[in-house]
Amino acid sequence: MNILILGSGGREHAFAWKLSQSKKTSKLFIAPGNAGTALVGTNIPVSVTDFEAIKNIVLKNKINMVIVGPEDPLVNGVHDFFLADDLLKNIPVIGPQKDGAQLEGSKDFSKKFMIRHNIPTARYETFTKETLNEGLKFLETLHPPYVLKADGLAAGKGVVIPTTLDDAKKELTEMLANAKFGNASAKVVIEEFLKGIELSVFVLTDGNSYKILPSAKDYKRIGEGDTGLNTGGMGAVSPVPFADETFLKKVEQRVIVPTINGLKKEGIRYKGFIFIGLMNVNGNPQVIEYNVRMGDPETETVIPRIKSDLLDLFEGVANGNLHDKTFEVDSRFATTVMLVAGGYPEEYEKGDVITGLELVEGSFAFHAGTKQEGSNVATNGGRVIAITSYGDTMEEALKRSFANAEKIQYKGKYYRRDIGNDLK
Ligand code: AMP
Ligand code: GLY
Repeated sequence: MNILILGSGGREHAFAWKLSQSKKTSKLFIAPGNAGTALVGTNIPVSVTDFEAIKNIVLKNKINMVIVGPEDPLVNGVHDFFLADDLLKNIPVIGPQKDGAQLEGSKDFSKKFMIRHNIPTARYETFTKETLNEGLKFLETLHPPYVLKADGLAAGKGVVIPTTLDDAKKELTEMLANAKFGNASAKVVIEEFLKGIELSVFVLTDGNSYKILPSAKDYKRIGEGDTGLNTGGMGAVSPVPFADETFLKKVEQRVIVPTINGLKKEGIRYKGFIFIGLMNVNGNPQVIEYNVRMGDPETETVIPRIKSDLLDLFEGVANGNLHDKTFEVDSRFATTVMLVAGGYPEEYEKGDVITGLELVEGSFAFHAGTKQEGSNVATNGGRVIAITSYGDTMEEALKRSFANAEKIQYKGKYYRRDIGNDLK
């Protein structure tokens, strides 16, 4: 089969690396890809939201399946675009249609969905500019800290957690009355703050049956000890030691089964990944958010732990027989340490030459923000390289990732040295 992956980060390099190992893969294309995906496939410089250009690639290269990495094309309807086109409608797309993508594209939709299907989540209310005053009053009924979420996609920045009532009121006013996040904050979800430890569980579904992929924990803040600004993710660990069988059973029964059944009941044909962001509150899972794609950098730990043929699983999703597919997971730990550009997540430079990639030993260097410049690989994003390692213990895997992180050099390189410390 000829495969097209949409995206350009570490997640897409991990997908490309894994799919390139499948006997079923003939040609592998990545749009737009990065210097790492070019090592295992062919990059095509096209934006993930330029659907007409994607159509041309698909027809020209006789693509048999499209795997969508990021949320943007899904929320904007890339799958629906395929289904509405006579030449594309029989080419499977891994990723939900617009209706299912609302689980990530609208916080208000996802909260209502959870309530409709009795899925455990924090108490909440949604407000608009017209109901700002009610929103301000609602804040007074909650205890600090306060959780305010812009309804729409806001490049991962739409959640604000003020610690005082005053700040929360100012923030709500900014979001609703002054459109702080543009149209994304035309509606704002205010919810109860959940105290616990976070983790992510990933599900692959054909709309009926599902496979629960390995769990992972992400490290979102830029600074060690979970301080400073939010990032896309600075590292990941899989499996999550506290997510034992008992906890995961609760996640399956209370969250995964009602989610899949809920989608079915609502007539939403969902084919793809569901990323469930959870808080473990005293041993009980509460849903913080859904995403309609895999996480990044969680994918860089989850995919290497899948022993089964990923393309065979995707075929199961496309054909509706995922149930019959074998699914095996490597029992070892996988850990990822993300090397980022100096200044990230605020302003940072691009185009700095990266050296030492060939010295990496005993780990994978998944490229995140890189590009080939002549004979050099250069930085091309805030998150630059994800170093993933296996280990029989988490400590052993982390030791490998950190040792290899040292070997890669570029101007301003930074990474968190405390990945996994909270799980020890
Ligand atoms: P989200 O974009 O929904 O993942 O939210 C970003 C981050 O805000 C999450 O990863 C959590 O750390 C935090 N967060 C979101 N909702 C809550 C909540 N109800 N209680 C505590 N923390 C939350
Ligand atoms: N690492 C979090 C995310 O992909 O949203």
